[in-house]
Amino acid sequence: MDIVGTCGKEDIVILAIESSCDETAAAVVRNGRKVLSNIISSQIDLHTLYGGVVPEIASRKHTERINQVIGEALQTAGMVLEDMDAIAVTYGPGLVGALLVGVSAAKAISFASGIPLIGVHHIEGHISANYIENKDLEPPFVCLVVSGGHSHLVRVTDYGEYEILGRTRDDAAGEAFDKVARAIGLGYPGGPKIDKVSKEGNPDAIFFPRAKVGDAVYDFSFSGLKSAVLNYLNSCEMKGIEICQADVAASFQKAVVDVLVEHSMQAVEECGINKFAIAGGVASNSALRSAFEKECAKRNITFYYPSPIMCTDNAAMIGAAAYYEYRKGVRHGYDLNAVPNLKLGEK
Ligand code: KG4
Ligand code: ZN
Repeated sequence: MDIVGTCGKEDIVILAIESSCDETAAAVVRNGRKVLSNIISSQIDLHTLYGGVVPEIASRKHTERINQVIGEALQTAGMVLEDMDAIAVTYGPGLVGALLVGVSAAKAISFASGIPLIGVHHIEGHISANYIENKDLEPPFVCLVVSGGHSHLVRVTDYGEYEILGRTRDDAAGEAFDKVARAIGLGYPGGPKIDKVSKEGNPDAIFFPRAKVGDAVYDFSFSGLKSAVLNYLNSCEMKGIEICQADVAASFQKAVVDVLVEHSMQAVEECGINKFAIAGGVASNSALRSAFEKECAKRNITFYYPSPIMCTDNAAMIGAAAYYEYRKGVRHGYDLNAVPNLKLGEK
């Protein structure tokens, strides 16, 4: 990675590419906050057949779709490649084969056109989704990132600068949603299905544990909760009791929401920052959003959240994060590689 000095040009337009999991996505973003196009080709229907993301299939589909998705992003923005100031791409964390497709496409375009290349951290992208629809949001703020692979509570000290306050010790929040959904027969993708069915259920019907991680107040643990749901299902089966899917879903969802809200509010108060944002696929959960709305209002904290389409994987968020890297003069070389377990804050 090179630092080449900051840029003086007024409008910076970035073509961004995202392929870390099961969405092939490309977007054109102006000045980090204005989305000119946001194309997402989802593979969900395909992976639903197998009950989860199959990495090999994901990579193959990305290869088939990526050129078309990039072309569509430029066309929808009414622009050509030569109008771009940078090509941004997610290079980690994620599925290695899936990441490699986006990274290879971005490197090839950058090499052929001479347009600079910027590698972006996927979680940094999720956090930056908040800048797109909240034009007034600026660091510092506290952000809860909850997705299928990650659960992080971070203090965003500046653009692209993070201090990790807490993280999950085992399963990510989204992973817990997906596993519980499968166990109660809702299938994949679990999060949106639990969200929907919970609206018909009683969140106080069954008490599931809210795990605390003794030595780290902001850390999360969701595997015990998942086991508690599985134990409940087994004991009902053994006793011949029919489960109420909506009650189990709503009670599980409430246990997750309670923990996320409690930890986040404590972090915001202890950091002395009155701005709080959520990000990642689970941030589109309706119960989580309304719980945060209520709790933030009570404490006079300004609550920021992206619209659901900006919470789940997309390339516009990668373009938003890349803009602030571009402004700092960050450029990557053609040795940029996919880093499946890239840590937040590692560049
Ligand atoms: O951020 P994302 O699209 O991909 C990753 O980076 O992992 O997040 C996907 C995760 C999945 O686990 C999915 O079940 C969960 O986000 N999710 C939800 C909702 N929508 C997506 N979880 C709870 N409620 C939702 N409405
Ligand atoms: Zn994601």
